[in-house]
Amino acid sequence: MNGIKIRGTGRGVPGKIVTNRDLERIVETSDEWITARTGIKTRHQCAGEETFSAMAAASARGALVEAGISPEEIGACIVATATAETLVPSAACALQRELGLPQDIPCFDLNAACTGFLFALHTMECLLNASPRKFGLVVGAENLSRVVDWTDRGTCILFGDGAGAAVVECQEGWPSICAVLGCCGNDELLHLSGVESGGHSYLAMEGTRVFKFAVEAVPWCVEQVLGKTGRTVEDVDFFVFHQANARIIDLAARKCRIPPEKYYKNIQEYGNTSAASIPLVLSELREQGRVSPGSRVLAVGFGGGLTWGGCLIEFA
Ligand code: UT7
Repeated sequence: MNGIKIRGTGRGVPGKIVTNRDLERIVETSDEWITARTGIKTRHQCAGEETFSAMAAASARGALVEAGISPEEIGACIVATATAETLVPSAACALQRELGLPQDIPCFDLNAACTGFLFALHTMECLLNASPRKFGLVVGAENLSRVVDWTDRGTCILFGDGAGAAVVECQEGWPSICAVLGCCGNDELLHLSGVESGGHSYLAMEGTRVFKFAVEAVPWCVEQVLGKTGRTVEDVDFFVFHQANARIIDLAARKCRIPPEKYYKNIQEYGNTSAASIPLVLSELREQGRVSPGSRVLAVGFGGGLTWGGCLIEFA
């Protein structure tokens, strides 16, 4: 199988910012507790015209511009999300119309919760191998502020809204991203109801149990991807982990002996944006010039499902 590389990244983030101090007025919490336990200081929130669709489109446009690719060249579009504005049409179909993507390509949404972006990258690699077009658009977008229970201090302080996107390219002879993906059906640890529920549904999470799962899953995924690709920590330029909790990221990095200059956190600004968190990091790394063509990034995600995954992806 021919591999994919990232050609361009982009992000769409609403302007409204909710600080920890703002949350102190809504639930019994404190800036000190949130900062110490999670590393989060602020999160962005959709409001007014800054909707899910607007964020997703902004991130996709940014990625197309950075890649120097026109919408007609895209061979498939996947939006990783669990909080799309509508189930039908999918967010990817809405993007097809908004961006003027070709009509003879697959556009669909994919839900693997916080691991969604990595499930989507792997799916895109498979699709582009079977497509005459060589570029794909992968978006991770979430409007989590719509589904959190604003009376539950255990969850409402964690999540934020945002979108990140990548334009990827597939070429003969490029190495596969060697995705390692998995799931284990569990609706106790993290749950968000769908259409069957009747009333309004809120995201429910057993945080401490998810934390324990995550600190095991991240190092395991790192090890699996390194094993599958025959690489070592030294061969990887940057490690990008799902931004769920700064403590999870630091613990996992320490376990894997990853030096601090080789991983990155932006959870302090965005909180946990689920499927958007990994592409948001990728787009910031690119913007800051910390990754460039040839850079190798090992990305790991974990979350509801339960799901987990990792891959090694290069920048074109
Ligand atoms: O992206 C999907 C994957 N999600 C995750 O990876 C989330 C993983 N979990 C976590 O990040 C952490 O478990 C949390 C940040 C959610 C919670 O941190 P914790 O250290 O596991 O705290 P806890 O739930 O064990 O609660 C400790 C105490 C409790 O009080 P008592 O029972 O000891 O008196 C909570 O009621 O902290 C209390 N607490 C709070 N206090 C102030 C819980 N939330 C808050 C809050 N402010 N917001």
